[in-house]
Amino acid sequence: MINLKNRSLISITDYSKEEILKVLDIAKDFEADPRQRILTGHVIASLFFEPSTRTRLSFESAVQYMGGSIIGFASADTSSQRKGESLKDTILTVSNYSDLIIMRNPMDGSARFASEVAKVPIINAGDGANQHPTQCLLDLYSIQKTQGTLDNLHIALVGDLKYGRTVHSLVQALSMFNTTFHLVSPESLKLPSAVKIYIKNAGLEYYQYTELSDVIPKADIIYMTRVQQERFPDPLEYEKVKNAYILENSMLDGSKENLRILHPLPRVNEISEDVDDNPKAYYFQQARNGVYVRQALIAAILGLKE
Ligand code: CP
Repeated sequence: MINLKNRSLISITDYSKEEILKVLDIAKDFEADPRQRILTGHVIASLFFEPSTRTRLSFESAVQYMGGSIIGFASADTSSQRKGESLKDTILTVSNYSDLIIMRNPMDGSARFASEVAKVPIINAGDGANQHPTQCLLDLYSIQKTQGTLDNLHIALVGDLKYGRTVHSLVQALSMFNTTFHLVSPESLKLPSAVKIYIKNAGLEYYQYTELSDVIPKADIIYMTRVQQERFPDPLEYEKVKNAYILENSMLDGSKENLRILHPLPRVNEISEDVDDNPKAYYFQQARNGVYVRQALIAAILGLKE
């Protein structure tokens, strides 16, 4: 029996494979009918200490489609953090006003800390370079929807594999699905060993590349990522790698028929706009899937869907 009621989601590994698949199943139900008003009378807090377009607005959209109320802030500048309030005090206070807290914070580990002090469940909407588990769920949903399965796929992850938190969560999750990983990055932005260990522990293979063109004919999914400028301690290091990979439409000649291009967005230069009209481009539909997956997660955590 799968029961996610009152369970925080901080790292994607907090949920088992079966629990992840359950959330994806519920998301299908919301895709068929997003306007299920099951959240009437519930208050959800959305605390964003770091910029966001998709994550914040798709959570808000999810809550509003379901008839719930949303409170919160979109920037630390408009919270009492600016007056010196601690994260602990903020979380304890907001626990008084809401049934569930969604939080994005620039500090690695802040979401886990929040879940240890909160009186209500916490959903991690991104903590520094660490984890982005709800992006991971919508990435899995998008892969399953476009490929018909999550099992036995060749997935290419391209760009900033060091600081990209969406990549860290996705590698951990895909390690549950017999994935073959193709890791494309500059030397300085390779996937951290602490994440690679999930691939090794699952007995799976990964291959590392510095050239994007080497993986295009092999991949079922190409997952492009932005180089995370805001996480670099040295701006000069960012300048060296900022345009390391730019996917152009002509490069997709010879790719598999079932290939789909994903990107968590925002993009800067990684995908040329001439790719947008290619039927293999899926990144804006991927962002739309975020609404259904976040509806499913909120409903499951509040015990409104099983
Ligand atoms: N994918 C993602 O996290 O986008 P935002 O930063 O716009 O929320």
